[in-house]
Amino acid sequence: MTRTAQYDPTRLQDIIEAATVLRNGGCVAFPTETVFGLGVDATNSIAVQRAFAAKGRPSDNPLIVHLHTPSQMDLYCHSISEVAYKLIDRFCPGPLTIVLPRRDSIATSVTAGLETVAIRFPKHEVAQALLREINLPIAAPSANLSGRPSATTWQAVIEDLDGRIDGVVCGEPCEIGIESTVVDVTRELPTVLRCGGVTLEQLREVIPEVAMHDQQIDSSVNSPGLRHRHYQPTAKVVLINSATEIDRATKTFDNDLRCGYLGIEKIPGAIASKLTHICYCDNEADYANSLFRFFRECDNLEVQLILCQGVDDTGLGRALMDRIRRASCV
Ligand code: TXA
Ligand code: MG
Repeated sequence: MTRTAQYDPTRLQDIIEAATVLRNGGCVAFPTETVFGLGVDATNSIAVQRAFAAKGRPSDNPLIVHLHTPSQMDLYCHSISEVAYKLIDRFCPGPLTIVLPRRDSIATSVTAGLETVAIRFPKHEVAQALLREINLPIAAPSANLSGRPSATTWQAVIEDLDGRIDGVVCGEPCEIGIESTVVDVTRELPTVLRCGGVTLEQLREVIPEVAMHDQQIDSSVNSPGLRHRHYQPTAKVVLINSATEIDRATKTFDNDLRCGYLGIEKIPGAIASKLTHICYCDNEADYANSLFRFFRECDNLEVQLILCQGVDDTGLGRALMDRIRRASCV
């Protein structure tokens, strides 16, 4: 493949060109409000396989299908329940993905052989413009090499996928910075498979019966993405409970260890002066927005150890802790 084309989202001609590449079976990354997606035509199994190959993604991990309007849904899924419509009314377009029974119009490789398909309506203007222009379902995994932190800027997409994909629609960094919440409404109880931009508390306002997927007791068959390694920078990620733990966490390493810190709490000046990279966040939303970008910045600075301050497992903090825990898995 030749170099990856860069499309300017403010030029209609560029959106039309990106849509044409997608319609012809190409792979084009585009911004959403969560993270950048690597788009392919979800009805074209060869195109879908190219997205798996470009990312190095295991073929048993299904992709999310992106649509621009709920009126397209009947073509790609069926048995859309009242619960699904309640969620759509409240949260779509936005950072919510809903798992529904699939129709055969979606390539089987998209759903990794499952009988369900994950559907999302992104809110981002550029994503919507592209989806409207192409008027096809677009399967889009996060636009990063498999296992790496998701890309929240077009530069991060290029860092991982230059020459491996046909194009990227550029533009501003993503507003939320972590992925969508995935809810399976095909189960007896609607179940959160992945925490993300919509919080559990927000979901409960609409569907009080919503359950959390428990990896320990539930087989991973219904949520294959949970099996794989995720979000990992080259540096080792360690979760710490407070900034004062930094000293202890770094003691086991030698003195010239290149270390980064990301958190809300400030760290003492004497420790801060020994660190290679520090990012203080104002609140959890800011933390979520900084996480993947910070991981990538640390890699570019050859940081070896990243310390992430833990936050409460509530609200957006739940999604944040999920990403940090997975990033710190060895
Ligand atoms: O915010 C997002 O969701 C971003 C943007 C680009 O939309 N996309 C994203 O895609 O994060 P990806 O491929 O990195 O994660 C998709 C998640 C995986 O955990 C996958 O297992 C799950 O959705 N998934 C997809 N289809 C599924 C299905 N039919 N049943 C259960 N889980 C599914
Ligand atoms: Mg991903």
